[in-house]
Amino acid sequence: MTLRLSVIGTNYLGATHAAGMAEFGHDVIGVDIDVQRVKVLNAGQSHIFEIGLEPLLEKHTASGRLRFTTDYTEIADWADVHFLALGTPSGPGGAADLSQLHSAIDSLAPLLTRPCLVVGKSTVPVGTALKLQERIRRLAPAGDAIEIAWNPEFLREAYAVEDTLRPDRLVFGVQSARALETLQQIYSIPLTESTPTVECDLATAELIKTAANAFLATKISFINAMSQMCQAAGGDVTLLADAIGYDKRIGREFLNAGLGFGGGCLPKDIRALAVRADELGVEVLSDLIASVEAINEGQRTELAELAIEQAGGDVHGKKIAVLGASFKPGTDDIRNSPALTVAHHLAQSGADVHVYDPQARLPERDGFTQSGTVDEAVSGAAIVLHLTEWPEFRQLDPKRLGAIVGTKVILDGRLKLNAKAWQQAGWKVVQIGRALTM
Ligand code: UGA
Repeated sequence: MTLRLSVIGTNYLGATHAAGMAEFGHDVIGVDIDVQRVKVLNAGQSHIFEIGLEPLLEKHTASGRLRFTTDYTEIADWADVHFLALGTPSGPGGAADLSQLHSAIDSLAPLLTRPCLVVGKSTVPVGTALKLQERIRRLAPAGDAIEIAWNPEFLREAYAVEDTLRPDRLVFGVQSARALETLQQIYSIPLTESTPTVECDLATAELIKTAANAFLATKISFINAMSQMCQAAGGDVTLLADAIGYDKRIGREFLNAGLGFGGGCLPKDIRALAVRADELGVEVLSDLIASVEAINEGQRTELAELAIEQAGGDVHGKKIAVLGASFKPGTDDIRNSPALTVAHHLAQSGADVHVYDPQARLPERDGFTQSGTVDEAVSGAAIVLHLTEWPEFRQLDPKRLGAIVGTKVILDGRLKLNAKAWQQAGWKVVQIGRALTM
């Protein structure tokens, strides 16, 4: 059954969700206050680098099933369901800033004159959904005929389209059988493919999302703490991760040691969860998260200091090549990028930092130079840092680069390079989390 859906907010989550819902056969209007972005999306183009998104936008803006607008009157009484896909960045003290959600509701609610379902997809502190429902009902002429549901999103950048079309689970936080039925209609395609579904109350749905991100962050910090043990005791953290990962209860994913986690989600979501846990008096959780964060920050500092040490102890005026700027491969997103934190640290220590990334564009600041090629970055450098594991960096020819670099030292912050091949080409390879520094 085709439903009429609006998706409010068109960044990573909203743009992908809108395109995905059109692919599921629904009629979709995406809404954003950003006129330029709406124009780009209506032309079937993507404003972000996300594999598979542009073809989907192109397909459905052409089929007439998907369009974008800045005008709330076009969606208000048109849509059966309004999805809230707005950002919830870090506010003061690390609590989630809900102002985008509030202003979207303040624009939409006064225009709602008939019953509808409003479905939250954003990551929010537990308790938000009910407060938003109160706000909508207070402002909308349709009042109590409007109901809220929570259907958190688990998509990963770089796999956003895949995760939207083939989610590994669906969470339906609802208050009525009718809301559940509507969500089941929206997702009838993945549901026929036996996607596991969890039906629950609003609070559980909100918490599931933050718990998932907190667990992933904990897994990464755990392996990074173990990497420090390996370094201290003479072990190899990659082999350790492989071995414990064979245990199905543990699993190998998110056990890649290195520079730690960054991006627009994990860091801010776990901070907001810690703040909410403190508000509710659940200190065991906020303490756990504080340790996870401390380990994560520590990796960045340790790597920067290791780079300085390996470059001879004083990097003033020395050229340092940084390979990778995005917070992970497959995206041009540089929000809370571990690679750029390290680059920043080195620039502040006086180094002449040259950064190359296949996709990310750096704003002009911080005293980095953005290189157009790997060779430009590496040429004459006192040390090379591999900080975001783009596949193309694994294809680099250490022999050829050895001929243009200043000093043949490479620090692998992601433990993904073939250390032997680099070593055979005469490089000193330093991998954090491995005692063997070659
Ligand atoms: C994360 C979650 O994985 C998604 O499920 C969630 O929907 C999303 O946040 C969100 O809340 O919107 P994403 O931010 O795209 O997705 O990034 P991840 O793939 O989770 O990677 C996060 C960071 O962890 C990256 O910096 C990555 O390099 C790092 N990482 C990942 C490691 O350091 N080690 C690993 O083993 C895995």
